[in-house]
Amino acid sequence: MITVNNQDIQWDDKNVESIGERLAKGLSEQGYCIVDNFLQPSAVAGIRAHMNDQLEDGRFKAAGIGAAHKFQVNREIRKDYILWVDPNEAIAPTRKFCQQIAEIIRQLNRLCFLGLKDFEMHYAIYGENAYYHRHLDQFEFSDHRRLTFLCYLNTCWQLPDGGLLRLYLRNCDGQEIPFDIAPLAGRLVIFRSDEIEHEVLLCRKKRYSLTGWMLDQFNELTFL
Ligand code: OGA
Ligand code: MN
Repeated sequence: MITVNNQDIQWDDKNVESIGERLAKGLSEQGYCIVDNFLQPSAVAGIRAHMNDQLEDGRFKAAGIGAAHKFQVNREIRKDYILWVDPNEAIAPTRKFCQQIAEIIRQLNRLCFLGLKDFEMHYAIYGENAYYHRHLDQFEFSDHRRLTFLCYLNTCWQLPDGGLLRLYLRNCDGQEIPFDIAPLAGRLVIFRSDEIEHEVLLCRKKRYSLTGWMLDQFNELTFL
């Protein structure tokens, strides 16, 4: 059973359409949606173990800011380590996750006019005392990132562990409303990359996630 915006529903072939409808509603009305238990505990454990192996092999790199020629590693703004994922080469649970993201993209394209064509994704690890200051995910000179998705892999996460995702939402008067989301294992969060500023609050414990963007153009590593 998964939970989409606080309502329980089974993820299976018969239900993807109604899941898509709930996601589309959340995105259009609130700018974000949350799906709990999107990943099973066995998938969470498998992906985490793989990330730890890759980290030990030195495959993770300090994350940067901006893209291409504007790329810079600024440890004052963000302090996480990332490894880009090629869905075609990924381990089984990551590949299955990618297939579900592709299915969500198909559903959203049926219901919203986002023109999603592909996605890009990386593994991310925040160490103790890491954070990512307030930002928007679209680059200044490229706006192909339409929706941001995050899936967390932190079992037994407690409030003192920090690392909350803080979205800066607005009410109908345009007033800013911070909204915090705990990075709980198996939880998927999707939000509008062009609209929602957000940050990752200071982590007190190592924090694992899959982070990606649904794009309105084809990526080099096309999967859909
Ligand atoms: C990002 C980001 C949020 C999170 O990588 O751009 O904002 O909760 N991540 O990890
Ligand atoms: Mn971001």
